[in-house]
Amino acid sequence: MQGAEWWREAVAYQIYPRSFQDSNGDGIGDIPGIIARLDYLNDGTERSLGIDAIWLSPTFPSPMKDFGYDVSDYLDVHPDFGTLADMDRLIAECHGRGIRLLLDYVPNHTSDMHPWFIESRSSRTAPKRDWYVWRDAKPDGSPPNNWLAVFGGPAWEFDTATGQYYLHSFLKEQPDLNWRNPGVVAAMHDVLRFWLARGIDGFRIDVMGMVLKHPDYPDNPPNPNWRSGDEDRFRQLTTNNVNHPDVFDAVRGIRAVLDEFGGMAVGEVFGNGEQLRRFYGSDALDGLQLAFDFRLIREHEGPYAPWDADYLRRVVEDSSRNLPAGAQPCYALDNHDRFRLASRLNHDGLGQQRARAAVLLLLGLRGTPFLYYGAEIGMVDVDIPEDRLQDPARFHYQGRDPERTPMQWDASAGRGFTTGEPWLPYGPIEINVEAQRSDPDSMLSLHRRAIWRRKELSVLRWGSYRLLDSPAPVFAFERATAGERPVVVAVNTSTAPMTLELPGSGTVLVATHMEMEGRRTGGSIELPPLAAAWVQVETLPSGILRQ
Ligand code: GLC
Repeated sequence: MQGAEWWREAVAYQIYPRSFQDSNGDGIGDIPGIIARLDYLNDGTERSLGIDAIWLSPTFPSPMKDFGYDVSDYLDVHPDFGTLADMDRLIAECHGRGIRLLLDYVPNHTSDMHPWFIESRSSRTAPKRDWYVWRDAKPDGSPPNNWLAVFGGPAWEFDTATGQYYLHSFLKEQPDLNWRNPGVVAAMHDVLRFWLARGIDGFRIDVMGMVLKHPDYPDNPPNPNWRSGDEDRFRQLTTNNVNHPDVFDAVRGIRAVLDEFGGMAVGEVFGNGEQLRRFYGSDALDGLQLAFDFRLIREHEGPYAPWDADYLRRVVEDSSRNLPAGAQPCYALDNHDRFRLASRLNHDGLGQQRARAAVLLLLGLRGTPFLYYGAEIGMVDVDIPEDRLQDPARFHYQGRDPERTPMQWDASAGRGFTTGEPWLPYGPIEINVEAQRSDPDSMLSLHRRAIWRRKELSVLRWGSYRLLDSPAPVFAFERATAGERPVVVAVNTSTAPMTLELPGSGTVLVATHMEMEGRRTGGSIELPPLAAAWVQVETLPSGILRQ
């Protein structure tokens, strides 16, 4: 039976370790800092946020060209973040609070400073030569194919010492591993074992869908839909280097290792419902336990997602139609690669209101929600002065620094984050935990109420999903389970008030507009502009009682 796994009822929280809490005054967040803030995340009471799992972006030794996504040793901790002993303590402190800990597993590439790559590039006959993807130049000296790196420019770098090109799907300092070499597979499986044996509960897997490419490395076709202004890499389709069928063998191999320890993984994967289903292992469910559906952040292969009921409905319906039975969706509204939601949806100054509704959507959906640090206080993108920009990947204006700024704990000079100079500038001072903690109407309090309600009512964690009829600008669905009163989740994406017919009379549990909470509703509910609400209705859904 699928059912009891912890990750099915968890609310997860992504920490970008550089930016969460500094403990030694160097302006960079670290593991002891995270430990000091665990009670904020979950101290077992409703005073805390109440999250159940943490995903830590990479904490491994790294030259930090891509801020940790360029790993030079998978089996240790970067001194900026602490030591292995600190990591062990973090594991224990998390577990002591019932919090699971996921690390970021980066299988597609290492740093060019990883000893494996240093050996691989040393000569054409080096034993680890084949651990990376080396190819001869074309007769005219150009790269082996036309693939583009995600961060711009060709995906191949010429290495003069040995006269061949190596593949790098991201920066040239991030050479791609060759997962067709059994030595690579064995070594990378051992990385999983190392951390699982230490007590890590699982992993977020970086760009899982790129780990294996077409074995012949053919050119990618041009993208007919590319428009000037789009990211450079979208000039071509990713036919031969993303979601290649062989990837799913690698996925099953990783799952088998996870199963040795009862570990789990959530994949960073890109696709619509039909493509996502394969990462779960299709009907056999022998793939990843969870695969991110990023379509609440961006349209698949398109621009940022609109805040529009019709769009949201299409995404969620597509996922519920296509995921295999027993597979659980996994949505996020933000992460370290994309502009923050409160800013993305702020064209008319109403971004914070939409962000409030969005969190009730995320936590109301069937699935495992992932929150991004700072979203719970409505942190916004920060305008970074040119001379302080850090991210080398400028695939959008200012790269990804605006959404990676330090967590704002209070209104002091160092925001409670550091006593030193922060590695990135702070956002608006009024957005901070201290200011919101005791304000019942704050974004933080809304998050706390929603998360703890979710813990209290199993229908919100385990209930089925059913689309309800609603006016076009309202996305409304019902969560139902045997023997419990169903909950209707209603999201009005319009700036006009809307009326929604309910399956029965009920009570508002949580709402963006606090004054609605606790209110009894008749057979319908009035939703103010941009409001969202969870309503527990009296009527048992037809059929459920008879199950
Ligand atoms: C993923 C990460 C991103 C990183 C890239 C290369 O997309 O989320 O931050 O730069 O992979 O590892």
